Amino acid sequence: MSIHKQVKIVTTHQLKEMKANGEKIAMLTAYDYSMAKIIDQAGIDIILVGDSASNVMAGNKTTLPITLDHMIWHATSVVKAVKRAFVVVDVPFGSYQGNSSEALRSCIRIMKESGGHAVKMEGGIEIKESVQRVLSAGIPVMGHLGLTPQSIYKFGTYSVRAKEEEEARKLPEDARLLEQLGCFGIVLEKIPADLAKRVAESVEIPIIGIGAGPDVDGQVLVLHDMLGITQDFKPRFLRQYADLNKIMTEAFKNYVSDIKLKSFPNERESY
Ligand code: KIV
Repeated sequence: MSIHKQVKIVTTHQLKEMKANGEKIAMLTAYDYSMAKIIDQAGIDIILVGDSASNVMAGNKTTLPITLDHMIWHATSVVKAVKRAFVVVDVPFGSYQGNSSEALRSCIRIMKESGGHAVKMEGGIEIKESVQRVLSAGIPVMGHLGLTPQSIYKFGTYSVRAKEEEEARKLPEDARLLEQLGCFGIVLEKIPADLAKRVAESVEIPIIGIGAGPDVDGQVLVLHDMLGITQDFKPRFLRQYADLNKIMTEAFKNYVSDIKLKSFPNERESY
């Protein structure tokens, strides 16, 4: 196989070039093989194996319960499907904060066992040592600032972050720090659009927004939310691209009804 066939088409270098050229970056979450295959074939640049799997796949209220083993399982399924996209894997709560050796161990497991291309960690200066240590092992790291769901019990709510002066001052500092450390990109979640714009303009690495307005370098949404599978989560920033809940419910009802009415399977569907 030629070297070109072995190399993934999307790389951290290309993502940075896309920002420099003003080309917006498209990112979506995925947690399983079948969905990841469709998303990859649709031309997405980055697939995030998000710890939102805790919510949309496992039905938890927060992202806190998901474990490293769960994340590796999801990531392994996604990686098998992907031919073009850059695959980023969330490092779950409790496997990197406050202990850089553990952070390195967790990220090495993710990279070795799942075949993912990079990891994402939530936080700024608080996780500086973990980020440094993981980067020093040659693992690409994406930051995540603003609303960081792993700290939900510290915030107390999922409302817009960095509206207060102190947080609005710290966030750009954290973004610059993550860039200096060597992160290849940062997710900014649910912050005022003008602050996100300022952050995107102040760094050379791509800033990917979710609820951070249009003036960043790319956008990310949670798959189940944008497909309209999730029913009870409709924040202002969410654009729903399909109503799969309705389509699927109809399909399931028709299936049940066909069985009850003995119309499935018919002769052509039998051997
Ligand atoms: O876990 C996730 O899906 C995320 C996105 C909200 C960016 O981190």
